[in-house]
Amino acid sequence: MNALITGTTSGIGYELAKLFASDGYNLILVSRSKLKLEQQKAELEQAYNIQVQIYVLDLSQPNAAKLLYNEIKDPVDALVNNAGFMEYGAFVHSDLQKQMEMIQLQNNFLTELCHYYVPDMVKHQYGSVLNVASMASFVGLENAAVYGAVKAYILSFTKGLHNECKPYKVKVSALCPGATRTLFASKSDAEDTHLFTMHVMEAQSVAKTAYRGLKKNKMMIIPGVYNKIGYICTKLLPNVFVNKAVSYIMARKK
Ligand SMILES: NC(=O)c1ccc[n+]([C@@H]2O[C@H](COP(=O)([O-])OP(=O)(O)OC[C@H]3O[C@@H](n4cnc5c(N)ncnc54)[C@H](OP(=O)(O)O)[C@@H]3O)[C@@H](O)[C@H]2O)c1
Repeated sequence: MNALITGTTSGIGYELAKLFASDGYNLILVSRSKLKLEQQKAELEQAYNIQVQIYVLDLSQPNAAKLLYNEIKDPVDALVNNAGFMEYGAFVHSDLQKQMEMIQLQNNFLTELCHYYVPDMVKHQYGSVLNVASMASFVGLENAAVYGAVKAYILSFTKGLHNECKPYKVKVSALCPGATRTLFASKSDAEDTHLFTMHVMEAQSVAKTAYRGLKKNKMMIIPGVYNKIGYICTKLLPNVFVNKAVSYIMARKK
């Protein structure tokens, strides 16, 4: 069995890689940091007695999905679209190139990769897909408007795909983490927001919940009690309250 996982050089992706490895999956890992991927290959092969292939690729490039698909010769039994990033700040002052890369990586690339691999899974009535969305999928995200929209797309697309694949025994889940301790916050310059100074989950715990949820073919996986309460609030409270809360959470601590 092979699991193709994007964005494993840190955070949730690496924790997911270890869980697939501990179940005996051989891994195909893709990120941009060659050195980290090489270190991980050595570590994981030794620790879990599995085979690890690595691909160094910027997945925000328009031809990345096709390139990757053509390079990988083995069948893929589990596909994890985890690679992602956020740009913190007002859209009007943002770098357009970065916003477009966010869309390319987390929407276009993710969709294309599902289109390459899911048909074979359906044909063989076997396989699983985990797409990493976010708690941001449920709201309009002030100071990360494009990121929020990108994650809303992932959730909606994954829900549709989940329903289509269910009759063929192919598992498809969307993972919706809230603030999680990884490199994500520092890379996006959001460490001092209320979001990342309130309740932050550990990546290992998020990955464990995700892996369990995927095995049970949950359509949507929300890790942690606080995130579950947050989700219920977005469904029950009037928009005006939800927007106020999001505004506060996404502001920098003074
Ligand atoms: N941490 C949170 O609070 C949080 C909350 C909700 C959702 N999420 C989502 O969880 C997922 C994992 O994030 P994380 O928290 O684990 O963050 P992280 O520690 O920053 O890891 C992100 C991973 O994505 C890879 N990546 C980013 N851009 C890439 C590109 N253009 N091409 C290839 N690989 C790329 C990075 O590898 P390289 O830099 O080596 O390429 C890294 O391995 C993301 O989709 C994120 O949106 C995170």
